[in-house]
Amino acid sequence: MKTQQIQSLIRKAAAARRRAYAPYSKFRVGAALLTSTGRIFSGCNVENASYGMTLCAERAAVAAAVASGYQQFKAIAIVGGKKEAPSPCGACLQVLAEFCRPNCLIILAANARPAAFQTYRLKDLLPRAFTAHCLPITD
Ligand code: THU
Repeated sequence: MKTQQIQSLIRKAAAARRRAYAPYSKFRVGAALLTSTGRIFSGCNVENASYGMTLCAERAAVAAAVASGYQQFKAIAIVGGKKEAPSPCGACLQVLAEFCRPNCLIILAANARPAAFQTYRLKDLLPRAFTAHCLPITD
């Protein structure tokens, strides 16, 4: 992906971050997911008084895309934190592994320093993921 495209995805994730509902942690996160057809779906974290019900930004973006009929993604930008970009949690990596190829681009940016983004591949953050291929029904 070109730097310009990456920066545009980061801007969309930052816009979603502004809509985060995070009254408990005060840690706002936004995500922008790029489909294999070039559409972009965003998500933000949605917390709950019952803390464990909290939905992360990444999973919110995946749910929005799937609900609109998109199931193949090539990149996701995640924006959160002030100076340090957050890592996607294990649960979100597992959900991304359901719909993304191992080389899906994961772009991480801190809110105050969007230009200093870092890029990873899904396979680097979640090597040897558990996927449908691991299940006996696919044999
Ligand atoms: N959070 C995300 O939205 N994505 C992540 O990958 C890490 C954590 C949210 C969940 C919670 O609302 C807040 O950040 C603090 O954990």
